[in-house]
Amino acid sequence: MAALVARIIDRHHAYARRALPPLGPLVAKVAEVHGEHEPRLAEVRRLFDEMAARLLARLDEEESSTFPLLMARGSDPAGVAAAVARMTAGEEALRDDLARLAELTDGFTPPGWACRSYRLALAQLEELADDLRRHLELEGGDLLPRFAGRP
Ligand SMILES: [Fe+2]
Repeated sequence: MAALVARIIDRHHAYARRALPPLGPLVAKVAEVHGEHEPRLAEVRRLFDEMAARLLARLDEEESSTFPLLMARGSDPAGVAAAVARMTAGEEALRDDLARLAELTDGFTPPGWACRSYRLALAQLEELADDLRRHLELEGGDLLPRFAGRP
């Protein structure tokens, strides 16, 4: 389990911390420049900002409290159950964000008239979405089920 947690942090948390900060201004710029032509870009921007804040807060919480709690021997079972429930709820919210983002961007497909920045923003959003899906799969599909059934 320590190896799984290390892999989640080293691969997916590190990627998110690297990818999110430069992507925010790029998405904002594309929304400002092309929002008139593609009104859904304003919603993409709002959703991205919300999702980025949600994701960064989750990384911090996992690293500082949830993972240490799960890995410790003799953690209070009620505390573990509450942490697992919180992580699961957060995962659902992020999956909803991803689905909405894909819908708003026609599956991250730029329109024919899109400029280089627009295409780059969508390509990077798609990369983020793919990484986040794998990340959530490791946490929700691999890590948390180890605690399922605990009182
Ligand atoms: Fe995570």
